[in-house]
Amino acid sequence: SKGGFPHFMLKEIFDQPKVLRDCMRGRLFAKTSDEEKRSGRNNDVNDNDVVLSAVKNNKDRLMSAKRFIIVACGTSWHAGLIGKQLIERYCQIPVEVDYASEFRYRDPIIYPTDVVIAISQSGETADTLAAIELAKSKGACVFGIVNAVGSSIARQTDTGIYIHVGPEIGVASTKAFTGQLTCLTLLALCLGHCKGTISKDEYDEMIQELAVIPDKMEQVLKLNDAIKTISRTYTYATNFLYLGRGWNYPVALEGALKLKEISYIHAEGYPAAEMKHGPIALVDDRMPVLFVATHHKQYQKIVSNMEEVKARGGHIIAIITEGDTEIPKIANECIEVPQTLAPLAPLLTVIPLQLLAYHVAVCKGLNVDQPRNLAKSVTVE
Ligand code: M6R
Repeated sequence: SKGGFPHFMLKEIFDQPKVLRDCMRGRLFAKTSDEEKRSGRNNDVNDNDVVLSAVKNNKDRLMSAKRFIIVACGTSWHAGLIGKQLIERYCQIPVEVDYASEFRYRDPIIYPTDVVIAISQSGETADTLAAIELAKSKGACVFGIVNAVGSSIARQTDTGIYIHVGPEIGVASTKAFTGQLTCLTLLALCLGHCKGTISKDEYDEMIQELAVIPDKMEQVLKLNDAIKTISRTYTYATNFLYLGRGWNYPVALEGALKLKEISYIHAEGYPAAEMKHGPIALVDDRMPVLFVATHHKQYQKIVSNMEEVKARGGHIIAIITEGDTEIPKIANECIEVPQTLAPLAPLLTVIPLQLLAYHVAVCKGLNVDQPRNLAKSVTVE
């Protein structure tokens, strides 16, 4: 059921805080404050920890991996790009991310010391399944991050973790994406902790922050009406650019995919610094540019990119961190998300992009849950 929402997609966007709590239950243990302990609440939690039985039971294999290769399609591939950054940072293992369709036909070099991570919501994507078979035939260990319990991919993988965000009905993937990011974060933290490649301080800080992400998502969802209003301005657009850097670069790709698939507006996602290597030629007063520009490491760089767009008459929408006073002076529209740690920012910044695509599509009178030419599970190549 749509639970009172007009479309499954909107319901699934709003489901995210709850389903992420489900995804983290029994896996993420965040130390409660001394005050809560004194009052007797949650006094069974003594320390911050991430517990994944798939890691515990395959510790040697995972810890001795020389390389991880992530294979996926579409939105799941975007999650993989963030997964690469998480695993490289916290586990100090090189990670490659491949489209399953490219991987399977390229005759890729795969060693028995590799771990291949297959990410899929449906667990039935034909190319991802074929990539798994290939990896297994070369002796690699295959780790699944899958939503659909008992699906073909879940059965084919050697081990893995379920996303546990409940069935996703809308063709545009939303809660599965944030669930995949959460699972990848848990995996990187758990493995990094086992390997000793993450400091205790960083481990604690990430766990504490991940535990409050669902609350912060609830705050972002309160922007729904404001985003609905903003969306009305953009139904005219035939092209859109989505730009981000670092952790938010895959979010830009994901936001552009959402707009393409349900609003039928051509949108390109790009790493913001690449703009001047080509796409900037497209910018004029009919070309809206969306920047994902939270207040993290490359903030000043992205502000410069924004100024370049502004100088060419581009219309700017910016996803910013609450309290930012600089970007509102440049951008035409700003959407504020709560402050969080950079690696967790995508969990918050993607939500306004999901809502924007949704409202633009609704405004245009389109079939949001079943866009033309698309199927929920791509079981053919
Ligand atoms: O079920 P999967 O995660 O394997 O599906 C992969 C893609 O087909 C899927 O993410 C697709 O890109 C979505 N429609 C995006 O919203």
